[in-house]
Amino acid sequence: MAYSFSHMVHSMHAKDVKLLMKQSSGKDMISFAGGMPNNDLFPLKEIEDIFHALPPDLKKLCFQYGPTAGYPPLIKALKSYLEKKSLPVEENKILITTGSLQAISIITQEFVNKGDIILTEKPCFVGALTVFETYGAKIIGIPVDENGIVIDELKAVLKKLPKKPKFLYVTPNFHNPAGIIYSLERKNELLETLAGKGILLLEDDAYSDLYFEQGDKHFKLPMKALNKSDVDVIYTGSFSKILGPGFRLGYMLASPDIFDKAETIKQALDACTSNFCQILAQQFLAQGALENYLVFLRKEYRMRKDLMIQSLEKHMPEGVDWHEPKGGFYIWVKLPAGIRSKNVFRESVKKGVVFVTGRTFDPKGKGDRFLRLSFANVPKNEIDKGIGILAEALKKTMTKRDKFNTIS
Ligand SMILES: Cc1ncc(COP(=O)(O)O)c(C=O)c1O
Repeated sequence: MAYSFSHMVHSMHAKDVKLLMKQSSGKDMISFAGGMPNNDLFPLKEIEDIFHALPPDLKKLCFQYGPTAGYPPLIKALKSYLEKKSLPVEENKILITTGSLQAISIITQEFVNKGDIILTEKPCFVGALTVFETYGAKIIGIPVDENGIVIDELKAVLKKLPKKPKFLYVTPNFHNPAGIIYSLERKNELLETLAGKGILLLEDDAYSDLYFEQGDKHFKLPMKALNKSDVDVIYTGSFSKILGPGFRLGYMLASPDIFDKAETIKQALDACTSNFCQILAQQFLAQGALENYLVFLRKEYRMRKDLMIQSLEKHMPEGVDWHEPKGGFYIWVKLPAGIRSKNVFRESVKKGVVFVTGRTFDPKGKGDRFLRLSFANVPKNEIDKGIGILAEALKKTMTKRDKFNTIS
């Protein structure tokens, strides 16, 4: 266990995250920035009914502290939920966390000292980058292609490194921001590459329930479930995308040794996650309400994704590329050569459309040829208008580039 807060280090991505949170909820804007569900999708009635129906003793318990590891009935409900994902719950332990970002933060605190190396994907979830930077890690990004992290690049980096990285952080299912899902083959190759190297794998699985087609369900098998070698995999999950981020509920599944230290760190951070939220979520799971809600969400997000893909096809100029996601929240758009997403943003925000620039997700804060569009948060009837405005902003940026090129 490593790091004290007094040594915390500046994070270059923290500013991006603050801006992102602000833009995501900006009024009078069409926002493709928000990586969160639309407010109209939340299960208000179900949660209201659950609270009303709680016996008085449980209502009182909602207001109370609870065990650091989590509310025991929620841990039990999670066990069977994770077992259905083929995860090895018996030989591991569950820690309920205040959002899965807290789980990522705890693992970083447990293993990382200033100057230690963390490997990530490139691009990478910016919340995790901020955590790693805050603890003073040296972050090395490995590119992803449409099937996952590029194994040859990973091997080349591993060969060159001056010291062993503390862990590799990956989001194999419905990646934020790249929108991809790892192929089964790539997941196995990754596990084989790490086998015997003593490098932890931190597997972030915040989106795997949000596939669009029933037939794609099998893709999302976690690596922690596939792992037959000696790779130590720490698995994290979240209720944020399947119930609501306001619950601030996440969890980790880790070996008993890793769990023990993580529990101590959590105790020092916030003693326990809100009992209120844990009890409501446990009832939601126990009543079988989650599955019905997921069926509804998958349909909603699929419609939004379809609308966005249609609009991109309709409005975007030649030379713009994207990968159609099979689940999750995001479309990762590649701009024509020489166009920076920062400049497109400058034009589109003037017309009331926001998104997140590619460099936000680059461990080095560079690579700005991409932009991330989220279809989860935007009302369906604004998608086509918003993509139309974005396409105009892009065309304007391209004209400026061409003019500049002619002059110079
Ligand atoms: C890949 C990924 N992991 C983790 C999180 C954090 O979720 P939570 O709200 O559970 O902290 C997010 C949120 O956007 C995410 O995209």
